[in-house]
Amino acid sequence: MEAFFDILPSTNEYAKQNILKLGHRDIIAARAQSAGRGRKERKWISDTGGLYFSLILKPPYINTNFSGSLTQAMALAVCKTVSDKGIKAYLKWPNDVLFEGKKFCGILSEAIFEGNILVAVIIGVGINIKQTKIESDKPAVTLKQLGLDINEEEFLRQALNNFYFYFDKLSKNGFKSIKKDFKDNFPYIGQQTVIRTGQEEIKGIVEDVDDDGKLVISARTISIGDMDF
Ligand code: BTN
Repeated sequence: MEAFFDILPSTNEYAKQNILKLGHRDIIAARAQSAGRGRKERKWISDTGGLYFSLILKPPYINTNFSGSLTQAMALAVCKTVSDKGIKAYLKWPNDVLFEGKKFCGILSEAIFEGNILVAVIIGVGINIKQTKIESDKPAVTLKQLGLDINEEEFLRQALNNFYFYFDKLSKNGFKSIKKDFKDNFPYIGQQTVIRTGQEEIKGIVEDVDDDGKLVISARTISIGDMDF
């Protein structure tokens, strides 16, 4: 099922509220959101001209062995959708997509559990397509500003095609089967960075992305946090 709304408070919230009625691969999309959510309780300003969608994935097609990597697969899919059009986008770990230091895609994934049983993963994706202004405290850009003329439906279709290419690999062999593609689009290896995990600030050289999609920085392995721009 694919539903495309003119406006919703938040596609992730809608998906959450209706999770039992929704099926594997269902899409809830909107042209605008009045209460879009970002990572770490931030707001995601969602004016018309952007693409806002949530993809619902459910067991038995997903399991907790690789559910943590679904967000990275989606970031990779969005990155490839843009790069295939000649715009050299890249990934900022764990799941932002940027062009020359400016973000145009953010992803917020939410796993729903009943007790310790995984019910669904909601992958919420926000893409700056052609808004006339972007409110963000970090550098941001729209695809239109990058010279890409694509509508929201078309972008969604292409990004999902790419996602399912990586999803197939991921569900068979885990993150390691998409690690090369991820690293090919991740230019930070060898660079000095700061990661904010919420608890602490880790400064160091990015050494690698491991077989589980975790960041290896100065001999430590990190699964959550925000990389400095
Ligand atoms: C980030 O902080 O970078 C993640 C932003 C995720 C925004 C998307 S838009 C569609 C979905 N619905 C939401 O409320 N948030 C996500």
